Amino acid sequence: MLPDHAVGRPVAENQLLKRGERLLEPDVYRARINGRLAVIKDYRRYRGTVLAPFARLLVRREARVLRQLAGWKHAPALLGVIGGLALGMEYVNGQTLSSLQAADAQVFDQLHKALERLHQQGITHNDLHGTNVMVAAGVPVLIDFTSAWRTPRWRHNNPLARQLRRSDLKNLLKLRKRVTGTEVPSELAASLAEPGWVRLIRQGWKQAYRRFKAHNA
Ligand SMILES: Nc1ncnc2c1ncn2[C@@H]1O[C@H](COP(=O)(O)OP(=O)(O)O)[C@@H](O)[C@H]1O
Ligand SMILES: [Mg+2]
Repeated sequence: MLPDHAVGRPVAENQLLKRGERLLEPDVYRARINGRLAVIKDYRRYRGTVLAPFARLLVRREARVLRQLAGWKHAPALLGVIGGLALGMEYVNGQTLSSLQAADAQVFDQLHKALERLHQQGITHNDLHGTNVMVAAGVPVLIDFTSAWRTPRWRHNNPLARQLRRSDLKNLLKLRKRVTGTEVPSELAASLAEPGWVRLIRQGWKQAYRRFKAHNA
């Protein structure tokens, strides 16, 4: 673990990549760790609050996924956990997929393969959209593993794991359609449709989350 003083807060506004405004959202900024350009996801504003244990959990979970993916070109390298409430990772020098004017199909083919590889390792991303994919020199890099889920090998085929993989793929096809205009073949879209029980869980989860937010606002 890196010591808490290893990384400061952003000093210049241009170092800030995203300010955490919603509940349990981190401040995300660029900084240097041991001279190397890094991105810090920082939940330290929750220190000493009732939400600190949840923030620590988010940091730990994301760090665990990045550690598992070490050495993979489609995820940033983990540089360390800072005092339990912040995470340092490699800075990906590129653009988010959503900010690209156009991306060729080749980027999406790579992304599709990367997603399959991720799934083979028992990990689902669960929040795949345009600002959670960076493209650097034509290579897509998945970021933001806050919502990712790891399933042990012996449970790979359980219905929930299968559904999470399906959702990731659905999000990928949605992104592809938005950025390249490619229609999703109808049989594929049908095979990725959500079963009723998933819709119910999703609605229940959303309601619980809204109530939790209203209560803690
Ligand atoms: N490793 C990274 N390299 C470059 N930019 C990054 C990196 N990680 C995050 N970012 C930028 O910061 C933004 C927010 O980070 P993200 O991990 O998605 O946080 P959040 O959980 O708040 O969505 C991303 O959309 C991206 O623009
Ligand atoms: Mg994000």
